[in-house]
Amino acid sequence: MSALASALPDFPWDLLEPAKAKAAAHPGGIVDLSVGTPVDPVPALIRDALADASDAPGYPLTAGTPALRAAIAGWLARAGGASGRLGVLPTIGSKELVAWLPTLLGVRPGDVVAIPSVCYPTYEVGALLAGATVARSDSLTALGPDRRIKLLWINSPSNPTGKVLPVEHLRKVVSWARERGVTVVSDECYLALGWETRPVSVLDDRVTDGDYTGVIAVHSLSKRSNLAGYRAGFLGGDPALIAGLLEVRKHAGMIVPAPVQAAMIAALGDEEHVDRQRERYSARRDALRTALTKAGFEISHSEAGLYLWATRSEDCWQTVDDLAERGILAAPGLFYGPAAAQHVRVALTATDERVAAAVARLT
Ligand SMILES: Cc1ncc(COP(=O)(O)O)c(C=O)c1O
Repeated sequence: MSALASALPDFPWDLLEPAKAKAAAHPGGIVDLSVGTPVDPVPALIRDALADASDAPGYPLTAGTPALRAAIAGWLARAGGASGRLGVLPTIGSKELVAWLPTLLGVRPGDVVAIPSVCYPTYEVGALLAGATVARSDSLTALGPDRRIKLLWINSPSNPTGKVLPVEHLRKVVSWARERGVTVVSDECYLALGWETRPVSVLDDRVTDGDYTGVIAVHSLSKRSNLAGYRAGFLGGDPALIAGLLEVRKHAGMIVPAPVQAAMIAALGDEEHVDRQRERYSARRDALRTALTKAGFEISHSEAGLYLWATRSEDCWQTVDDLAERGILAAPGLFYGPAAAQHVRVALTATDERVAAAVARLT
């Protein structure tokens, strides 16, 4: 194995295979709620835009076409509340960006990347790929005066907890980071999925006052527009930082395919399909939440995003195993950090028929 591969943790999903096999043996078939992969159709207007742009013999622009750049900036102004002059950049989905951002920004061995105590595992992977050290914390005070911190990840709405960071908290994070010259990167790929609260972008004028220095927001169309299969993400924020990222990504060939760029323009220009998808998830969420509560689970946070963060105050593997007996697969909290040993993550991404099957098995 290469030195780089061996610096990374074991791929956690392999550990879920025994529970998956158990759930699959259920006579009614598995209800797989372990992964947040969209199952509903790609909206027709996006598929049409992709098809119309399929005659694409030349190399696409790493920076994105002018039309795509305008679509991203327009959407960040409308949905993100950002009225200033933003740098923007399309990415090949957001996972590659999350994994390579510390390296692309020049984070090096000896530097520290701060990540939430319970979070999407790729933040840690990205720090390790850069040879940096990870500090897990939700508290700026606990991070203290460590001058080695170069990059701070936040994620609101959070995967897996569904927690949303309010304006005041985001303001504090930005000013803390600016005082120390730390880059703040806010992963906002679930921004469109607020249930009990309306999530706020770090780029919102109420947070930054229109000054994006040292701030980058990461977005994805995977969840908002059912485009996980297209690999469509983008960044908005500090124009100087994003210009630097563009330079490196041009050299490295990190280019979004031209038909996907066209599909992204269509997706960003339409909110109707987003409303329809939000309604589907809302109904599934209500059904699963009620059933889990009746089955003795407590739901923590989960005010936004694509998951229910559930606990029965026992070891998460015990819960995963019990749910697997009922043919339901959930993700153990430990995949997201050592502080989450008693939670499981239940995704809302299953068809109505599979969600109904899960509800019947829980109640
Ligand atoms: C918090 C978070 N960030 C980024 C991603 C990556 O999404 P994608 O690569 O599909 O844009 C995910 C996917 O589940 C996620 O949960």
